[in-house]
Amino acid sequence: MATFSPPFRRKSPYMPFGDQRNAPFYGRDILSVKQFKRSDLEYIFGVAHEMREMVERVGSFDLLKGKILANLFYEPSTRTSSSFTSAMERLGGSVIPINEVRYSSVSKGESLPDTIRTLECYADVIVLRHPEVGASALAAQYARKPIINAGDGVGEHPTQALLDLFTIFSELGQMDGITVTMLGDLKYGRTVHSLARLLSLYDVRLNYVSPDILRMPPEIIQELGDKSIPQAEFDALEPVLPQSDVLYVTRVQKERFEDQQVYESVKGAFIITPETMHNAKERMIVMHPLPRVGEIHMDVDADPRAAYFRQMEYGLYVRMALLAMVLGKA
Ligand code: CP
Repeated sequence: MATFSPPFRRKSPYMPFGDQRNAPFYGRDILSVKQFKRSDLEYIFGVAHEMREMVERVGSFDLLKGKILANLFYEPSTRTSSSFTSAMERLGGSVIPINEVRYSSVSKGESLPDTIRTLECYADVIVLRHPEVGASALAAQYARKPIINAGDGVGEHPTQALLDLFTIFSELGQMDGITVTMLGDLKYGRTVHSLARLLSLYDVRLNYVSPDILRMPPEIIQELGDKSIPQAEFDALEPVLPQSDVLYVTRVQKERFEDQQVYESVKGAFIITPETMHNAKERMIVMHPLPRVGEIHMDVDADPRAAYFRQMEYGLYVRMALLAMVLGKA
């Protein structure tokens, strides 16, 4: 009997059927921001911009009619899961939602590779969130269909970083020359890991503000240092806020701490209030991947510089663009 071991996959952009198969990103996985060049980002943002115009004009359209997305989430999600669902449905496709693996055969002990090989029998693309670093890369080894990493533990969250960059570009009109200050849990925050790497494709300055035990991982600082990106670490926001064009706030992630007393000792280290905003630039934007649990006071929401709700909407357009691209329709 023939034996199959991974990878028995195609993942080639030259599939011999259908139209538009030479489109950039057709059939490709989206696993890490490390796979993108500046020109890729320009392309993605161009498509995302077109998606925005289409949604504003017609709401939904049939670009991906007949295509099916499997949304496979081993960790909780509101934004990523529902924005991918909305993206697929606005493009005329449909979704298999597995937002609670407890009710799937995962609870019977099914492995990730087998779950992936099952879902790709029914779907054309799989969005995966998983608590382990590298889970999406593992899934991609087994899958014939594109895998999109929707967050792998404390590793990466590439689609979040893409939407973050699209937000900055849409709100400020430029990336080069800006100063981005990241605040909060920079150790476990996968969104800031991916965003810092993506920003390093531009001429930016990065400030990291965090409690000592939640500093940006040294390997990321080293990686960006090798690319001559100016970076500095702080334990207070005051010295860097007035120079910042973007203040990127993150939640201290209770679920990543083994010792809850340690979590309690750092959870309220930084809270953005209307008073904080007095010292910020008039054109600075405040971003947050959300959910927030108190690190930005609700009284900040009315400030026009609070971009975190607009940021979620930009995410819809970016995820529409990614789905269309990997399915060869952009
Ligand atoms: N930003 C983000 O990943 O949010 P969810 O956990 O709700 O998907």
